[in-house]
Order: sequence, then C-alpha cells, then structure tokens
Amino acid sequence: MDIRELIDAAYTARERSYSPYSHFAVGAALLCADGKVYPGCNIENASYSMTNCAERTAFFRAVSAGEKEFTMLAVCGGPAGEPESAAADYCMPCGACRQVMAEFCDPEKFEIIVCRTRSDYKEFKLSELLPGSFGAGNLDGTR
Ligand code: THU
Repeated sequence: MDIRELIDAAYTARERSYSPYSHFAVGAALLCADGKVYPGCNIENASYSMTNCAERTAFFRAVSAGEKEFTMLAVCGGPAGEPESAAADYCMPCGACRQVMAEFCDPEKFEIIVCRTRSDYKEFKLSELLPGSFGAGNLDGTR
C-alpha cells in the first residue's frame, strides 16, 4: 500500500459522504500496521453537532474491528457534487479528529496526508498538527 493507493481509497470513501447541510464532502482512509485500510466519510445530522467527521468515522470503524495500531491517514475534501479538482485547499483534520488520532497513534510516527487533489498533497506528522496533546498521562500523573 503506497500513498497514492491510500489517497485513492480516501477519494472513494468521499463518494459516500452524507453532507446535505454543509455540502462539503470529506473522505478518509486509515492504514493499519497490519496493512488493512479502513475508509470513512463525514456523516452529517439535522442536529448539526451530531455530525461525525470522515477521519473519526475511519478510526471508529477500525477500532471497532479490533485494530489498535495505525501508520497513516489520507484525507480529502471539497464541495459535494463538484469535480475533485474543485477543492480550493488541502483538507486539514479538525481539532477533535486530531485528538482522536493522539489517543491511538505515536505522534512522532503517525503520518497524515492532506489532499487538495489526488496528486497535490502534503504530509505531516501528528506531532506537527497537535503538539502538546492531552493524553492518558495527564490523567494518571505520568506525563
Ligand atoms: N469535516 C470532516 O469530515 N473532517 C474534518 O476534519 C473537518 C470537517 C466535515 C464535517 C462537516 O460534515 C463538513 O466537513 C463541514 O464542516
């Protein structure tokens, strides 16, 4: 599984986006240490705050299937129903999704690929996107 394949999986997931309120369709694909890929899309709700982002959909699918180790995530997003190239900018994960990633991933190793198009993307380590995250160590005093 290379980066291009993971990006393709994110774009395929984006086709399933349920985004009738924002009309902003997001797709994600999460690569596990065992090589499996879990896709996710954003799922909106008429009670807006119940919306689930694509990244968290992918994580929750994977964790509920028994996965605990993750290496890379690709994310893409743009106007729903428009060509992929209509995305104005790289699709960055929101803060809530970054916090979910921090629960399961080594911030110095986990890579996040943010796409503008399939061939125009940037790579970040989680530590770059969420420095000083809150974690289990804060709760038990080991941090
Ligand atoms: N969205 C995601 O799916 N992931 C993010 O990281 C940011 C935002 C979704 C939520 C909502 O359905 C739409 O994009 C507009 O905010």
